[in-house]
Amino acid sequence: MHIGADYYPEHWPQERWATDARMMREAGFNTTRLAEFAWVNLEPEEGRFEFGWLDEALAVLAKEGIRALLCTPTAVMPAWLARKYPEALALGKDGQRLTWGVRKDSCYTSGALRLASERITRAMAEHFKDTPNVIGWQTDNEFGGPVCYCDSCRAEFQDWLRRKYGALDELNRAWGTHFWGQRYGTWGEIDIPMDPAGHNPSACLDWQRFHSWLNVRFQRDQVRILRQVCPQHFITHNFMGLFHELDYYDLAEDLDFVSWDNYPTLRTGQPQPRTRAASAADLMRGLKKRNFWIMEQTAGPGGWGVYSRNTRPGELRSIAYQQVARGADGMIWFRWRTCTAGREQYWHGLLGHDGRGLRRYQEAAQTAGELQALAPLLEGTTVKAPVAIIYDYDSIWAIRIQPGYAGNAYHADMARYYEALFRAGVNVDFVKPTDDLAPYKTVLAPDLYILPDEVAQALDVYVKGGGVLLADSRTGVKDATGLCHPRTLPGLLSDALGVAIEEYESLGEPGEPAGFSYAVRGEGDLAGPFTAIRTAEWAAPTTAQALAGYADWHMRPYAALTRNAYGRGVGYYLGTVVQEERFYDLLIARLLADAGVAPVVVPPAGVEVSLREGSGRRLLFLINHTEAEQAVDVPAGKLELLTNAATTGVLALGPHGVAVLQL
Ligand code: GAL
Repeated sequence: MHIGADYYPEHWPQERWATDARMMREAGFNTTRLAEFAWVNLEPEEGRFEFGWLDEALAVLAKEGIRALLCTPTAVMPAWLARKYPEALALGKDGQRLTWGVRKDSCYTSGALRLASERITRAMAEHFKDTPNVIGWQTDNEFGGPVCYCDSCRAEFQDWLRRKYGALDELNRAWGTHFWGQRYGTWGEIDIPMDPAGHNPSACLDWQRFHSWLNVRFQRDQVRILRQVCPQHFITHNFMGLFHELDYYDLAEDLDFVSWDNYPTLRTGQPQPRTRAASAADLMRGLKKRNFWIMEQTAGPGGWGVYSRNTRPGELRSIAYQQVARGADGMIWFRWRTCTAGREQYWHGLLGHDGRGLRRYQEAAQTAGELQALAPLLEGTTVKAPVAIIYDYDSIWAIRIQPGYAGNAYHADMARYYEALFRAGVNVDFVKPTDDLAPYKTVLAPDLYILPDEVAQALDVYVKGGGVLLADSRTGVKDATGLCHPRTLPGLLSDALGVAIEEYESLGEPGEPAGFSYAVRGEGDLAGPFTAIRTAEWAAPTTAQALAGYADWHMRPYAALTRNAYGRGVGYYLGTVVQEERFYDLLIARLLADAGVAPVVVPPAGVEVSLREGSGRRLLFLINHTEAEQAVDVPAGKLELLTNAATTGVLALGPHGVAVLQL
């Protein structure tokens, strides 16, 4: 297993390098990542390269058995480049170039930048291709910088549209330019749709896709060189979990595997079930349907101006185990030692400013030792989830451009289902709308706002063939170009779901003066009281059975939640957002019962369960995210791999405790 820390030899005197390398080896580390921000150190003047310092650092690391990933260092352009080629800096909406010095400030249609990126990539690849402890590459760093609004981006946008639509008539049709007299007579008339709240939603959607594609192309230019010069090396990139400015499926396509950067303690004052980091891990695994690495793992308090809370004893370890439980095969902490200079002086590494190996270092070392011992068993295993959630960047973008109801937000909606599945102890895969759904017993399609006919037809076939599908409000409103389908919703899913959405409305933001809610009442355990917030569809069941409706007088004819037996499967439809978490637990329980999915362990609150399987092994991870001891009912007579003890039927997990059962 690849374990280690992100290291910046260029930040420290050379006399210290040997100490760092020794301490890494003593911690059980075997891998580092180097040089993602070192462009100016490697090319101090245009076309003059200085690789000697990195050769020496690599040699020092090699002496202690430490391997390295190198990065294409393009996440921060040298000052000389910005000065000589000012067009390499992105242009803001206000017509001003970004001020150099905060990294991630590039215009990806700048020819000067693209050439410079290819030159440093090729020079590094040629120079380090045979260095024995270089094992692979990370492209750039966390793609997803600013959107650029310069003339060159505008011209490339026009070209991109020309390639996509072929004929101007086709673009005029796809964007619906008959509205507001927006018809284009030449490609050159097309402007950047700068105002996502005012410009044509179809144009805004294509502009977002174009921005994503520019990043993918910038990476692809580097990947092509690395593949050619260093065919023996792997190539990855450090993604940002649920970040959604780029289509991560596309960005992942050219890579061998995905890595991601995990900072779960930044947003939370207290330890808590880390459903966000869990769902991010599941998405990262889903991008290429294979295991991933953590390229930057939380090592201490983080922050640029104000730092966050510290990890409590055991928490750094439990954060790492959560990711391994969900498919991480590499664990690199960010960063090795806290830097004494620059904007990230307060972004803490395993070592403080003083360079001593204290508590956090020791906890990482303990984790590294345990993971190396587990590695032979982890080999060949991954998560094989019975449940899929469709994660669709087009829908995420289209909802942001035009939310419809107030407060409509993909991630909040998806999280309600995800968290209920997490509490139920069931693993989830994230999939594209066009993926094969056959492996899944149940599929959830939250906010599938953009619904091309082929996807709707595939979902229909899925349900007919025995699948259990859940869709919810505003499903299938638009086609792939962002035009509203001229049909009664849910359109081509009407048969599978057995409802007709006759009308719909926004309920406003709960708590705001104009906001209101409806009372939801259901049968049996769905009796409530539950509260419909944000959106309510006036949905008339056709063949579906209403499981819950609205108590308000004018809403009584309509259903809030329906279940439709269709073919050999079942289609659920939820036409509102329900405030109470318990509603989602009950809904998920029904879905899982229909789908015949039963978790191995139902965890107590605050405990996470995840199953890795393969190569004839099944490893069940249990992680206590609370600071109280937790008793978990587990199968008896199984080997707990961290203590080497057999389970008795109840397992005690201390604060931030972790267990791995071989089932
Ligand atoms: C990441 C980034 C690192 C470092 C870290 C802390 O997003 O890749 O370079 O900046 O955040 O801010």
